[in-house]
Formats: sequence, C-alpha cells, structure tokens
Amino acid sequence: MRNPFKPTAGARPPLLVGREDALDGFKEAINDGSGSPGLLTIFTGPRGVGKTVLLTAAEEFAQAQGWVVISETATTGLIPRLTSSMILRLEELGNGPPGRRLTAVTAGGFGVTTQLAPARQRPWRDIATQLVTVLDGHGTGLLITIDEIHAVNREELTELAAVIQHLIREDLPIGLLVAGIPKAVSDLLNEDVSTFLRRADRVDLKDVAIRDVEVALAATFADTDVTITPSQLRYAAEATGGYPFLIQLVGYHVWRRAVTGSVTDESLAEGIDAARRRLGSTVLQASLADLSQVDRTFLLKMADDDGPSKVADIASRLGENTKYAGVYRRRLIDAGVIVNAGRGLLDFSVPHLRQYLREHAASGIDSNTL
Ligand SMILES: Nc1ncnc2c1ncn2[C@@H]1O[C@H](COP(=O)(O)OP(=O)(O)O)[C@@H](O)[C@H]1O
Ligand SMILES: [Mg+2]
Repeated sequence: MRNPFKPTAGARPPLLVGREDALDGFKEAINDGSGSPGLLTIFTGPRGVGKTVLLTAAEEFAQAQGWVVISETATTGLIPRLTSSMILRLEELGNGPPGRRLTAVTAGGFGVTTQLAPARQRPWRDIATQLVTVLDGHGTGLLITIDEIHAVNREELTELAAVIQHLIREDLPIGLLVAGIPKAVSDLLNEDVSTFLRRADRVDLKDVAIRDVEVALAATFADTDVTITPSQLRYAAEATGGYPFLIQLVGYHVWRRAVTGSVTDESLAEGIDAARRRLGSTVLQASLADLSQVDRTFLLKMADDDGPSKVADIASRLGENTKYAGVYRRRLIDAGVIVNAGRGLLDFSVPHLRQYLREHAASGIDSNTL
C-alpha cells in the first residue's frame, strides 16, 4: 500500500485540515457571480501553511460550478501565457478565430503571434473580454489564479490590473485569486501598481487546530492497514503544532515506519524526529533564506528564550534600542515568521524554528550562514 501522506509543496493532502471557513467568501462569490467582492481574493501565510493547495481547492470548486479556470504562477511571460490559454479556451468553446491556430507566443513582450495577419491580431484585452462574455452567456465565468504573486513582473501586473478592472466595470464574471507570503504581499500592495488589489479580500492562513489534526490523522490511518492508538494519535497531532506541512511530514514518516502493521511508541518517536529533521532541511531553511541578516540575528536572539520574548530583551541582546528592534519585529511579523503573543511578547509562528535556530547556534553557525 502506498503512503497516503503528501509531504511535498503544493501536493494535495489526503485531507485538507481546518480550512472549512477559508474558502467561504470565495465560494459565495462564485455563486453570486459578477460584482461580488470575494471574486478578488488574496491568500497569505507563511511557507508550508497551505496556500497552494487552497488555490487548488478553490479552482476545483469554481470548475465544479462550470467556471473556466486558468492557473498560473507569477513568472515572467504571465500575460502571453494567459493570452494563449484564453485563446485555447475560446477555441474549445467553439469561438476561436476560424481556421487559425495559435502557433507561438512571444516571450518578453505581451504580443501574441499567430498565423493571423498582424493587423488582425487582437490585443489580449479583447480576447479576455470575448472569453468572459461567452462564459457569462453560459451563466458561468472565468477564474484566474496566480501563485507566488510577489514575484510578478510589475509591468505585467499593470497590464493584468487594467484588463481585470475593465472586465469588472463591464459587470462581467471575472475572478482573480492570488497567493503569497505576507511580507511580500504587503510590500506589493504598497506599490502603485497594486491599487486594485488593495480592494481584495485578504485571507490570512494560520496553523490549524490540533484537535482537527488528530481527527484527520485518525481518518487517514484508518483508510490504510496501519493501526495507531488514540494516545499515539494525540501525541502525533501535538507534534505537528497544527502546521500543515508538518502534518504531512509527521504522518508520512510515522506511517512508513509501521512495517509490522501497527505504530509502536518507538517508531512514533522516530517518525516525529525524522519529520522535524526534514522540516529543518526544507521549509525552515527556505523561510530563513527569505530574510535579511538582521532579521535572522533577531530570531537567533529570540531563540535564547524558552518561551515568548520581550522586545526590550531582544533589543538589549542586539545592543540596540527598542525602536530599532521594533522595526525588525514588524518585518518578521509581516513575513509570518513570528507573532504577537500578547502583553508585548513575541513568539515564533513556525513550529520548531526555535529548536532549529538553537541547534544551529550551538554548532557555531551565525546569521550569515543560517
Ligand atoms: N489544510 C491542510 N491540511 C493538511 N495538509 C495540508 C494542508 N494545507 C497544506 N497541507 C500540506 O502542507 C504542505 C504545504 O502545502 P502548500 O500548499 O505547498 O503550502 P504553501 O503554498 O503555503 O507553501 C503540502 O505537503 C500539503 O499537502
Ligand atoms: Mg505554495
């Protein structure tokens, strides 16, 4: 039997834990159609929280309602790719330019090269309008999803904004769903090109409830021939900290060690250990790589505490004033790495980051090489 857990970025988990509410606004918007505010939605959250799989879930919902979905990542060439997808969809719907097929899409520029004479090539805004108008006639609409939105080429975002706004003004059923890490999205929203995105619904994804993790782990194990006791399930669920990536890692490594058909306390402990090591070498390293050196030093100073840290303590460990520390506190909260723990305290938001930083600090690694 195959391991049911999927500890890979973007991979559909056996059960999508604790996201019942996250899609509510979007689903309502798909049902309401054009003009509904939820048709413009941004998912933010730290790496591994489940943004990409939630985009997929949203796409599937839209598709089930008959919507056409174009799923993209924000790499250069977005507009040409969107345009060629739209032309293909129009053709599938029997509305393509008769007898002419798309042969190439120019990289870099936004033009679309087809066998049409240049004068007959239509700007992509017309293509988009035609597609969405056809879909409107079918009582559905067009959903565009863009993952890792912070990486978007700003000129292409400007183009996209102009077309989306045009479609919204025409009261056509267009949806745009984007995802990115909080800090990068906040930065993007502060730029002039993003004015239209500031109106979007923002869904900030957090860890899920441990109790929900326990129920999901139980259901997933129950679908296989591996047995696990209720107390082992509770222990495994707690070890995930409710962090979605870790749910899959813990499930995967515990399941694969149950060679005899049941989880033993020993194999459980080993599986959790292995899951934590994998988390360090994948998600934690990548999250730290996104940060500046001072950000990482700030985190190392936080890791000196056994629990939530006081900003004033961090400032004095850094040899700086609280105002200086406050700037980095803000940056790291925006990045989704730390959270306000109340009463002026700060805590790590990614499970095991404290432990990971301590282990690295102990082996002489500093913020340069983390
Ligand atoms: N709600 C969830 N329940 C269970 N597993 C999840 C959930 N969301 C994400 N995962 C798992 O976590 C990992 C990271 O998900 P992903 O969507 O790639 O995160 P992100 O895009 O935010 O970095 C994947 O292995 C995925 O299967
Ligand atoms: Mg992702």
